[in-house]
Amino acid sequence: MASATDVITYIGVPLAVLGVAPIIYNTISTVATVMKVKRMLRRGRLAGITRGDVINHVIEVELPRYTIAPLGREEHEKDYWGLCEHPSKIPGGSWTIFNWKCHKIGLKTQRIDYADQLRQPQAEIGFEELISFLIDLGAVPNANGFRMLRGSGLWVPIGTALLVSPDKEENVLTIAPLDDSDGNLSLAVRWSSDWRMKDQSSLPPYWVAIMGPSPAGPSTNIADSETSSGEKLAELPAKDGTIIPKTAKYLPTVEEAPPALRCQIGINGLIAAIPEDFEPQLFDELSIDIGHLEIDDMNANTTGIWFASTITAFGTSLETILWNYKISSEILAFAKKDSIPCGILVLLNVVEESATPEWATKYDDEAERREEQMRKLKEQTRAMMKENQLPPDQRAAAIKERNLRTHDDFVESHNAARKRVAQRAETRMVEAIQSPKWDNKLVAQHNLAWLKKEGHVDESHDLRRAVEVLLWRMVNGRELAHELATVLDSWKGFVDNGGIRRVDYQVLKENQVAFANGSLLVASIEASVSAAHGSLAMDVQECVRVWKKVRLG
Ligand SMILES: *[C@@H]1O[C@H](CO)[C@@H](O)[C@H](O)[C@H]1NC(C)=O
Ligand SMILES: *[C@@H]1O[C@H](CO)[C@@H](O)[C@H](O)[C@H]1NC(C)=O
Ligand SMILES: *[C@@H]1O[C@H](CO)[C@@H](O)[C@H](O)[C@H]1NC(C)=O
Repeated sequence: MASATDVITYIGVPLAVLGVAPIIYNTISTVATVMKVKRMLRRGRLAGITRGDVINHVIEVELPRYTIAPLGREEHEKDYWGLCEHPSKIPGGSWTIFNWKCHKIGLKTQRIDYADQLRQPQAEIGFEELISFLIDLGAVPNANGFRMLRGSGLWVPIGTALLVSPDKEENVLTIAPLDDSDGNLSLAVRWSSDWRMKDQSSLPPYWVAIMGPSPAGPSTNIADSETSSGEKLAELPAKDGTIIPKTAKYLPTVEEAPPALRCQIGINGLIAAIPEDFEPQLFDELSIDIGHLEIDDMNANTTGIWFASTITAFGTSLETILWNYKISSEILAFAKKDSIPCGILVLLNVVEESATPEWATKYDDEAERREEQMRKLKEQTRAMMKENQLPPDQRAAAIKERNLRTHDDFVESHNAARKRVAQRAETRMVEAIQSPKWDNKLVAQHNLAWLKKEGHVDESHDLRRAVEVLLWRMVNGRELAHELATVLDSWKGFVDNGGIRRVDYQVLKENQVAFANGSLLVASIEASVSAAHGSLAMDVQECVRVWKKVRLG
């Protein structure tokens, strides 16, 4: 007969052991998982808290959530242009491949059963900052990806690439699963040290490089002005940023090309301009005084607005992707509008009349003059015949009379002719004002040819290059910039007020070089409207406007 103790020993103990086994198993596996998680966290240099609940075999991991931003391009040069040495391999931590400014904004707790369920909280980052940073490193925007994102928003398929590697072979920035993003746009990033990363000396996003006049330009201008009209002024920037009007006698002391400029354009126009081949340490000292191109809050001084609008247009056609400055709709509308009548260009001697559609009355003076002459001749012959029949004493008086009359006739017809010329000039002016208005591009083409003919613009420059030189001159020359703005203001003024009038024509005539220069700027703004339409740049702009903050991981 088995005793109660035996029962316990032979049945109870195995049963008890069986009951404890899962606990033992759970304990071991939980501890193992916790250790694995801790190892993963350590490897990714992550400060997390891991707790294991051995009974229920649940592991809790608390990880900080960060908001991140790119490091300073200049002050953290080494880290900005380098990859992180210990990136986290945990899903959601793709952003740790780069070095960032990190700021902890909270903790995220997750419960997992197995180590491979561990997720790193995605980091929060400004979308525009992120794109700008990656483009700066050398990533290339993927037009298709941005078009899809703009069109479909959060419905864009996972894995769609927004940015690709410098060789365009692999993806850099892709759409990630929405798991952790609370309805925010969710992205993942990759970078390989095999890719050619740009460096400090490359042009950052939001900057535009503009080249100054070619070195040969000014010197040929001098040769020109010595031989031709004298009133021609070529201008060279002096050291202090002002412009010295250079007459024929002035010879430039520098032979080399003036340095190209890098201009940084912000929401409020020009922020900085520095010579191209600068040493980063000298950044501040070399900055050019750009006070005259700053846009004040009141927008009272339009010089900066014209400059910012033109350089933005100039950059847009360069396929610059990221833009801070928005050309005002008012200026865009002005640039798109045909406002200069072709007749006015004829009066300004910019266009041959034969190149314009017929707009002026044609007078056939020759026939009229011949008729008049015949009539006078006949009259004279008749008078002379009459005189011959007169007795001599009366004849002398008659001849004298006739001569007087001829003289009066002459004076009268001369006066009439003068009056007619004045009247016709008047009519011609009215007709010119009413003649068909030309597109700004056409106006600029003719003005460019005129500027070349007059020796203001290098013969080899096309519209784009001429605009570039003008922008460069505007940065370096306060007066020139102001002069251009003034003429553009009055141009825009008469367009807003119903079109050109005689006084406006006078203003253009008196400032014809500035007007011709200005028309190049206007044409480049006009060109940017169609260039930007439906372009990658527009898609990117729209995406960063809609998605301010994104989750990256
Ligand atoms: C995005 O994330 C923030 C917190 O980071 C949250 O407040 C917001 O509701 C999320 N969703 C959207 C659509 O912005
Ligand atoms: C605008 O700025 C220019 C250059 O700084 C200056 O010469 C001009 O007087 C200013 N005009 C007005 C209206 O403030
Ligand atoms: C017009 O542009 C030419 C070429 O850039 C420049 O030399 C000249 O100084 C400018 N003149 C005015 C008044 O803008």
